[in-house]
Amino acid sequence: MVNLTIDDKQVTAPKTATIYEAAKLNGINIPILCHDSKLKPFGACRMCLVEVEQMKGRQIPACTTPVTEGMIIRTSTPDIVKARKMVLELLLLNHPIDCPVCDKGGDCDLQNLTYEYQVSANRFTDEKFQHEIDYNNPLIERDMNRCVLCGKCARICDEVVSFGALTFIDRGIETKIGCEFEGALNCEFCGSCVSVCPVGSLLARPFKFKARFWALTKQKSVCGYCGTGCNLTLGVQDNKVLTTIYDAEQGFHKGLLCARGRFGYQFINNDKRLTKPMVRKDGALREASWDEALQFVAGRLKGGNVAALSTARLTNEEFVLFKDLMKLAGSASYDHSAGYAHSALTKGLSRSFGVAASTATILDIQKSDLLLVIKTDAYETHPVVGFEINQAVKNKGVKLSILSDKRGKLGKLPGAKTLVHAPGTEIALLNAITKVILDEKLTAGTAASVAGFAELERALSDFTPEAVAGQTGIDAASIVQFARDYASAEKALIIFPTGLAYPGHNADLASAAANLAILTGKLGTEGSGVLCMAEKNNSQGAVDMGFYPANGGKDAGQILEDCASGSVKTLFVAGENPLVSYPDRSKVSAALDKVDCLIVSDLFLSETAAMADVVLPACSFAEKEGTFTSVDRRVQYFKPAIKKVGLSKSDFEIFSVLINLLGGQAPASPAAAFADIAASAPGYAGMSYAKLGEEGAFAPVDVKPALVAPAVVRPTVEQGKLALLVGSVLYHCGTLSQYGEGPMYVCPEGYVEISRADAAAHKVSEGDLLTVTSSTGSTQLKARISPRLPAGVVFAPYHFEAAQVNTIWSGAAVTWVTVGK
Ligand code: SF4
Ligand code: SF4
Ligand code: SF4
Ligand code: FES
Repeated sequence: MVNLTIDDKQVTAPKTATIYEAAKLNGINIPILCHDSKLKPFGACRMCLVEVEQMKGRQIPACTTPVTEGMIIRTSTPDIVKARKMVLELLLLNHPIDCPVCDKGGDCDLQNLTYEYQVSANRFTDEKFQHEIDYNNPLIERDMNRCVLCGKCARICDEVVSFGALTFIDRGIETKIGCEFEGALNCEFCGSCVSVCPVGSLLARPFKFKARFWALTKQKSVCGYCGTGCNLTLGVQDNKVLTTIYDAEQGFHKGLLCARGRFGYQFINNDKRLTKPMVRKDGALREASWDEALQFVAGRLKGGNVAALSTARLTNEEFVLFKDLMKLAGSASYDHSAGYAHSALTKGLSRSFGVAASTATILDIQKSDLLLVIKTDAYETHPVVGFEINQAVKNKGVKLSILSDKRGKLGKLPGAKTLVHAPGTEIALLNAITKVILDEKLTAGTAASVAGFAELERALSDFTPEAVAGQTGIDAASIVQFARDYASAEKALIIFPTGLAYPGHNADLASAAANLAILTGKLGTEGSGVLCMAEKNNSQGAVDMGFYPANGGKDAGQILEDCASGSVKTLFVAGENPLVSYPDRSKVSAALDKVDCLIVSDLFLSETAAMADVVLPACSFAEKEGTFTSVDRRVQYFKPAIKKVGLSKSDFEIFSVLINLLGGQAPASPAAAFADIAASAPGYAGMSYAKLGEEGAFAPVDVKPALVAPAVVRPTVEQGKLALLVGSVLYHCGTLSQYGEGPMYVCPEGYVEISRADAAAHKVSEGDLLTVTSSTGSTQLKARISPRLPAGVVFAPYHFEAAQVNTIWSGAAVTWVTVGK
């Protein structure tokens, strides 16, 4: 720490702080325009000028100048105020004064500073800019006439997002922010540039002219899409969530969001929201009262032969109630698709770590020395984790090793090493890496005493790098080097995602990854461990609440089989859309057809809900309170931002009534349910809504490592066919984002990505409609020719009803397909 004097106040600050940071830490406000704590200091705008006595009273920018011992600083002398006024006058010289129609009005740094410094006249004159406004994309409007050239947009896009869509172009007085070749913006549409722009140059188009900033009610919340657990501020007016508001201080991610978090919330106000319960009569769904619908449901649940499938978007409290309801109905068969999607987490990590949870947190990413990323482009599945990885690599020099079946954006980061393996061979590859570590004695001192060591050594005897090189398509030397890189890093973190439509992300993949961490002792210390990134916002919560098959219960796949065979008569589906998101559509459809009674609670009349006998209108996260648990077990509380839409009810309310109708006793409120959770769920002890506050709290993980020999199934290659990979695309998450305006503007339909080589071989051009056929069916998808896919591999995102990718995707680790025009 250093001692300094700011405005006659004796203060201290860390040695690494700038004058601006030191002042802020000590409650002294210095105005800034071009500075953002997430970006490297830039020093372009000169708003933050201060005087330093040791520098003969010269005015220097506070945001770029480091503190030194004994510094005497003044932040607002008459000369400084005069200088800041001049900065503002010069900025206002070319800037249009269109505050009355600018959406940034009330939230604009230039406007606020002009007011604060009372710049009511301008000593200078010049012409206003006449730049053409870019309305070319539906999400971001670019009006460079309002730009103050702070460079924040270009810097965040480069430094944090790593896309580099924006840059300074032209020189001198002509300088402006533009895209390549002065074209329209075509990027990831994460909106990070919009959020940091201090003026109205970059605006969120879906929000334009909807409300003035000051008229919005601001409610803090937690993102309802992926498991990263980003914090949000929802902007509300007239019971509608109109926008998300940037708060640079919010959450571990400091206000950063991805495209779906930033632009994906129109689904809350979507006209297609269900507002009344419906019961099927004479073959058609007809409106019914809540009483009628719930009495009917209770009657069916009392009849026995019940099973349940849930989305992993319910709150923790709702999961507990749903489980209680199933117990009252006499069923142990309930799943949040763990049987399909989360067995890496539920089965794999439980047997390797003794707990179905990650051992590391997202905050470990920037504290590590090496990240071993398996089968993911975090930028697509958990984009804000992608930002963390990018910052770790670029700012902290963290090394990045990637094992994947296709290339991704992470592989473009500086120094990233990617091994692209043949589809379905990832476990063999991980085993070979583990074997190198064993053979070269790169293990930690205690490794041999871990349970399962001898069995693992025996099981891996055949997995020499030379032996797996052939099937994985990766040469032995690269495998050896990969193993040495991982083992020699002092701190190393393994990251992989899990979720519906990530075939091959199963229990054995998790154990194969866990073995590496256990053997090398990279567990339980900062910057090391395993981070399993579950897909949806409360996938980890579903696991922690025990909403997956246990005690003889069936998993999602078996439940559907039981529906088809007639042994499950009543199926309760909460918020899930298996007809679109589960593999093998015809099997799912036949199973749902067969059950006597299909009950669906959902926000929308999804494809699954349209088949139901009873449809219960549920409400969104913005209309209820509860907790979500992120991938790293950060438990976060959120409360309602708006009143419930129509007559919808939260799943908590729905399950409560049903529990009572079945003779049970539901907790009186979500808070009471959470008190029960705190008393029973491992790691949640001592938590309460009040204690969670805005930061949330981590549920600690108690690891009991065991080495497990992963089973390896060698994929049978079907000659002449292509391997279909299914997964997530950046703008979407599950099937919910189909109802979000923003994601649908940018990525409105499914497609099939094909390598250049295969496109040439099959004479496919960009946009051609291809018929893709597998052993389970056939569907038509538009072709996208992509350099990131190896020959012999195609990729299709699974989110879209219209694309029906699950018609062809069987659920096996590798689905073999043919493509034709
Ligand atoms: S939206 Fe995101 S990717 Fe696009 S220019 Fe802005 S920061 Fe870059
Ligand atoms: S567009 Fe906004 S963020 Fe970008 S340089 Fe201009 S004022 Fe700064
Ligand atoms: S979808 Fe995930 S990464 Fe994107 S804002 Fe929401 S929680 Fe964050
Ligand atoms: S905020 Fe310091 S120079 Fe812009």
